[in-house]
Order: sequence, then C-alpha cells, then structure tokens
Amino acid sequence: MTATSPTTEVSRGGSHELVIDGLRAGVAGLEVLTGVDLVVRSGEVHAVMGPNGSGKSTLAHVLMGKPGYQVLGGTVTLDGEDLLRLAPFERARLGLFLAPQDPIEVPGVGLHQTLTEALAGRGMSPDDAKGSLAARALVEAQRVGLETRLLERPLNVDLSGGERKRSETLQMALLQPNIAVLDELDSGIDIDGLHDVAQRVRDGVAEWGLGVLAITHYRRLLSVLQPDVVHVLVRGRIVASGGPELAGELERTGYAAFETAARADDSGTGIQN
Ligand SMILES: Nc1ncnc2c1ncn2[C@@H]1O[C@H](COP(=O)(O)OP(=O)(O)O)[C@@H](O)[C@H]1O
Ligand SMILES: [Mg+2]
Repeated sequence: MTATSPTTEVSRGGSHELVIDGLRAGVAGLEVLTGVDLVVRSGEVHAVMGPNGSGKSTLAHVLMGKPGYQVLGGTVTLDGEDLLRLAPFERARLGLFLAPQDPIEVPGVGLHQTLTEALAGRGMSPDDAKGSLAARALVEAQRVGLETRLLERPLNVDLSGGERKRSETLQMALLQPNIAVLDELDSGIDIDGLHDVAQRVRDGVAEWGLGVLAITHYRRLLSVLQPDVVHVLVRGRIVASGGPELAGELERTGYAAFETAARADDSGTGIQN
C-alpha cells in the first residue's frame, strides 16, 4: 500500500543505534523527563526501573511520538535520523517498536490485518506480507502461548491483560524491529506467560540482533531477559546505571535513597514536583 523510500526502509540485522541525549519532555504542563541520556544498540538489552510516576511510560511514549507529549529539549536519533520530527509510523518504519504498558482496544481492526498493513508499510508487497504472515503467525503464536483463534480477533478487544502482552510480543516477533521499547511487558501476565514473552524477546536479540529497552518493576522478567545494563529512572532522569545485580539491590532496598538524592539535586536546579 505505502511506497517506501530507500531511506526509511528497515534493514534487518546489522548495527542500529538509538541515541537519547538530554531529553526533556512533559505532558499536561508538567515537566516529566528532566534530562534523559541513554544509548541502546543492536544486540543490547537495557532495563529501566524506577518508582511510579518517575516518567518511564512518558519516555516510552515520547520515543514513539504519542500525541499530547511535548518535547522540551534534547534529541533522539535512530541510526542518525532525528526521530522527534517524525510521525509514529515513520519511526516504526525506521525499526522502532513500542509495546505499551496498557495496549488499547481497537474495535474493527484485526491483529492479522494490522500486521499485514505494518509489513506492507515497511516495503513488503501486500501479497508477500499476507503469505509471510500466514505461516509465521502460527509459529509465533505458539512461541508466546497465544491462542491462534485470537489472531483473527479485533486488536486487544476483550483480551485479558496477559493475552495482550502475548499479542504485543507476537507483533514484535513478526515485525522484527531494530529497537523494541517494552513498557512493563510483565504486568498483568501470569508466570508462564512472563517466561514465554521474555524468552521470545531474548531470542530476538540472538536471532536478528534486536536492541531492547525494557521498563520493568521486577527482577523476574530480567532473569530471562538478561540485561546488559540496568538503569534507575527517578524524577525524570537516569540517576544510576549498573549491571544486572542492580535490579536485585533495588528489590531489596527500594528507591528511597535515589529519590532523596534526586530531590536534593532538583532543589538546586529549581525543579519542583
Ligand atoms: N496524559 C497525562 N496527563 C497528565 N499527567 C500525566 C499524563 N501522563 C503522565 N502524567 C504524569 O506524569 C508523571 C509520569 O507518569 P508516567 O510516565 O506514566 O510514570 P511511570 O510510567 O514511571 O509510572 C506522573 O506524575 C503522571 O501522573
Ligand atoms: Mg508506566
């Protein structure tokens, strides 16, 4: 359906780089992100943890270009392209994927249809997209434990929380993005499902060099995802980064010490919220 120019066509595999530099952003008049710096490359898994309201979902939405969020400063590039000036579908074409924290219901639009259009939008002929999907969707549904009858249903309509997360993961697997932002892929899903979706993401890292930015509250997801780096997001910026052991530490100690330090820092810069 959509003609794809060579510059926006996704090249799978290879080396890709999402660079977030000094990103400040807000919503509804509130500055939520106060300067986020983060680089995610192909084959890397980054985890972002942080207290409620620290701006994790805002970061995910701003990266994908959800309307209603204002960018107040900084830059975001994917393979050198300025993402922030692009529409969400153009970001997707460049190979960015978002599994939102709360996937919305889209009555009247089937999952199968959505994926066919998405593949066609990335340069595949509609016939090839259909053919490629028919075979792969069944395999992928099995890998993420999604009942195949749900492939034909309207997107997320009447799906349980866990089914939505499995569906998001299946979409990611079929689209094979270069960089996937996963916002609480582990929320609302049972333990078996959590393992299935995390394993599918991890396999993507090995299969096509997927780069991952995974927002989570729990180490359980990370034990399968095996992040290279864990970042702590507090009051809209990354206040600490470390190895996987940091996730365990956070589970034991919580965020209080980080919040106190970040608040003290903010009072020096005049940020109040
Ligand atoms: N659409 C919105 N309107 C008003 N405030 C919002 C909106 N979205 C997020 N916020 C506020 O921005 C802050 C960060 O929210 P969010 O990014 O969802 O946090 P997290 O995902 O880390 O829990 C919160 O204080 C939240 O209430
Ligand atoms: Mg959130």
